[in-house]
Amino acid sequence: MALLEVENLNVRFATHEGVVHAVNDLSFAIEEGGALGIVGESGSGKSQTAYAVLGLLEANGSASGSISFAGRSLLAMSESELNRVRGAEIAMVFQDSMTSLNPYLSVGTQLTEVLRLHKGMDGAAARSEALRMLDAVHIADPARRLGMYPHEFSGGMRQRVVIAMALLCRPRLIVADEPTTALDVTVQAQILRLLKELQRDFGTAIMLISHDLGVVGGVTDHVLVMYGGMLVESGPTAEIFAAPSHPYTLGLLRSIPGLTDSERTAQTGKLPVIPGSPTNQLLRPTGCVFVQRCAYRDQDCLAPPAVETSGQRRRACHRNLAELAAGPWGEP
Ligand SMILES: Nc1ncnc2c1ncn2[C@@H]1O[C@H](COP(=O)(O)OP(=O)(O)OP(=O)(O)O)[C@@H](O)[C@H]1O
Ligand SMILES: [Mg+2]
Repeated sequence: MALLEVENLNVRFATHEGVVHAVNDLSFAIEEGGALGIVGESGSGKSQTAYAVLGLLEANGSASGSISFAGRSLLAMSESELNRVRGAEIAMVFQDSMTSLNPYLSVGTQLTEVLRLHKGMDGAAARSEALRMLDAVHIADPARRLGMYPHEFSGGMRQRVVIAMALLCRPRLIVADEPTTALDVTVQAQILRLLKELQRDFGTAIMLISHDLGVVGGVTDHVLVMYGGMLVESGPTAEIFAAPSHPYTLGLLRSIPGLTDSERTAQTGKLPVIPGSPTNQLLRPTGCVFVQRCAYRDQDCLAPPAVETSGQRRRACHRNLAELAAGPWGEP
């Protein structure tokens, strides 16, 4: 049994304009200690997938399907049960570290408070555990830092504090939603390395959400690519990078900024970006969600694609891109 098992998840929002189909029939799993990346453009349903898992959808939203965490159904839990799971067993790290920190309290007060509340630790024990965690996230001179306030830290350091706070209760899963998007590239790389290290040292499973396939590439062992609230492709990260099987994944790979032109060409061909813009979730196409932007589209794509499974890989496309590029259609 995987640590997190999501099956046929649907997330809907009721709005004045109609029902928004934010997540559709999505299934995935995260193993104990594993790392899954969820990737897709803005509006593809990444955050709402995470919020559904955490029971944090906005009031006009609802989730259906099944979400099981360590064998327990999260969708069936009461708010107080969910509150216990959140924080203690599943921790969250968001893009803006200031949303997780109280600007008026010292970092030390905030860290020790979590331990007193969730673990019933006394002052001295909580302080030494807080120091240990700041050290684990590589904050130098942690004893002095405990007395400082969030605004006295740089953005990257603040995100480390948030990660330390997330780790305090030794959660089994950390959900990190664009944790490095607000940071510059060097700091971003340090934070990603840190996540990987913590996964190894603490055995914490990670759900890492990013619009950037390059960001999840170095940290995760599995990737789930979403478009228009649907699964596009999923599988082991290395396999997806080596041979994307869906045209949308190919487009994402082509737009990774870090790749040199020759690496990009060797891996993926010519185009650096995916033309067109993301779909409108109110006016859903009847066929493949990606059809309007797909360079490989044909008549078959007007019907919704079945999800093809092969080994650990899944793909929502009529054809396998690897075969397409080599076949009579060639490069688009
Ligand atoms: N409260 C809400 N009411 C109506 N629609 C919503 C609500 N919250 C989210 N949505 C819609 O759900 C869809 C998926 O949103 P989601 O936040 O999951 O996107 P995302 O992939 O995380 O994008 P981003 O990269 O911009 O964070 C979007 O079309 C969004 O507008
Ligand atoms: Mg989001």
